[in-house]
Amino acid sequence: MTHPTDIPREHQPRLLDSYCCQGGAGMGYHYAGFYVTGVDKDPQPRYPLSFHQGDAIAFIREFGAGFGFLHASPPCQHDTDCQRLHNNAHPDLISPTREALNATGRPWIMENVRGAAHKLHRPVMLCGAMFGLKTYRHRYFETGGGFTLPQLPHPAHTVPQAKMGRPIPPGHYGQFVGNFSGVDLARQVMDVPWMNRDGIRECIPPAYTRWIGSHARTHLGAAVLEVAA
Ligand SMILES: C[S@@+](CC[C@H](N)C(=O)[O-])C[C@H]1O[C@@H](n2cnc3c(N)ncnc32)[C@H](O)[C@@H]1O
Repeated sequence: MTHPTDIPREHQPRLLDSYCCQGGAGMGYHYAGFYVTGVDKDPQPRYPLSFHQGDAIAFIREFGAGFGFLHASPPCQHDTDCQRLHNNAHPDLISPTREALNATGRPWIMENVRGAAHKLHRPVMLCGAMFGLKTYRHRYFETGGGFTLPQLPHPAHTVPQAKMGRPIPPGHYGQFVGNFSGVDLARQVMDVPWMNRDGIRECIPPAYTRWIGSHARTHLGAAVLEVAA
C-alpha cells in the first residue's frame, strides 16, 4: 500500500473513518471539526470527504497511529437477520478490527448493529430519538484507547415503525433497510442528501457521530487528538 497523498497537515485533528461506505459516520465527524479520511475496499464516488480505497485493517495497521482518532464500521452482514436466513458466509471482522485499532495506541470507536452487539465490549447504544430524528436506527458503539462515552437516556419510542423496508404509513417512522422505498424521505430523515439507497441502508446518521466527535474533542482535548503525521 502506498502512502495516501490526500492526508493534509492542517491543525484540525485527523480522523480515520474506516469501512466508510458513503460517509454517514464521516460527515458527522466532519461537522464536529475533524479532518476526515475515509477508507473502504470498494470505490465510493459518493463519499463527500477525502477517500482512500483499500482494506481497512491493513490501512489501520499501516497508518492508524498517524490519526488523532479512529472510527470503524465493520460490515454487519455477518450478523443480520437476512444473513442468518440465507446462511451466507461473511467474514466476521469485529475482532481483527479491534486488534488493529488497539495496536495503534490511539483513541478509537467501533460500531455495529444489534445482532452483533454481544460481540462488542460494553457498547453504548444510540437511537435516532436521542437526536430528534424521525427514525430509531439503533447502533452499538464500543470504545477503546482511553476514550469512553456516556450512555444517553433512551427516549421512549412513541411513534410506531413501518415494517422493515416497507412503504411508510402516515404517522409511522421508516426503517430504511434492504430495498426500502422512499429514498428521498430517508435522505431528509437521516440528513444524508448525497447518498443513494445503497449508502442509506448501511449508514449511521451523521447526528450520531457529530455528537461522538464533539464529545471526543471536549474530553480528549487537542493534546491527545493532534498527532504528528
Ligand atoms: C456498514 S458499511 C459502513 C457505513 C458507514 N459507517 C456510514 O455511516 O455510512 C460497511 C462498509 O465496509 C466496507 N468493507 C467491507 N469489508 C471491508 C474491508 N475489508 N476493508 C474496507 N472496507 C470494507 C463495505 O464496502 C461497506 O461500504
